[in-house]
Amino acid sequence: MIQVSSSILSADFANLERDVRSLAPAGVDLVHVDVMDGSFVPNISIGLPVVEAIKRVSPLPLDVHLMIDRPVRYVERFCKAGANLLTVHIESDAQENILAALDQIADCGAVPAVALKPTTPAEAVLPYLSRCGMVLVMTVEPGFGGQKFMSHMVPKLKTIRGYINAQKPDCLLGADGGVNLQTASACKESGADVLIAGSAYFKAASQAEFVNALKAQNI
Ligand code: DX5
Ligand code: ZN
Repeated sequence: MIQVSSSILSADFANLERDVRSLAPAGVDLVHVDVMDGSFVPNISIGLPVVEAIKRVSPLPLDVHLMIDRPVRYVERFCKAGANLLTVHIESDAQENILAALDQIADCGAVPAVALKPTTPAEAVLPYLSRCGMVLVMTVEPGFGGQKFMSHMVPKLKTIRGYINAQKPDCLLGADGGVNLQTASACKESGADVLIAGSAYFKAASQAEFVNALKAQNI
């Protein structure tokens, strides 16, 4: 079963409550919240107070994607702010600190996840996999919404699907960046079960039809 997580990076921030409340009626499963620090990625988005505010108005679980340096400093606070699933980048700190971050997320009762930038090889996920409830493969360079899907990430999705099946079958596989009706099929064929969509979702003429189509068997 495919789950759709809508990235509110492409929402209208002046009408964030309206846009967050529109997700569940459209069939969206998760609210994807992109947190950027202007250091790990060259953009600054939102932080803890906004996550707390989204939590107050969202009936859906929050899927918070941290694109920040040394996330171990902040994971407990993002869990307390309302993250149900919390993703850290494996490139953002030394291995021992990423492992500690994942343990802290689990201790807080949230689902720990790791993300991989496009240039990070699939096998780099292996030291973390046993602790993960999701692996997020970036299919664009993190930092901005509205970029083109990198089709050369498809083999990486397939390789990580193989690792998950062999070592952690209950772990989800997500694809984040440039997911639309054209690129979703390659993600699903490669074993992705969570599709993150920002600009394509918010630009769709009918968001419910867009979500239905992403979840359909035949694309
Ligand atoms: C990129 C973010 C993505 C992004 C997805 O840094 O992690 O979640 O918002 O947006 P689209 O679907 O527009 O590529
Ligand atoms: Zn994201």
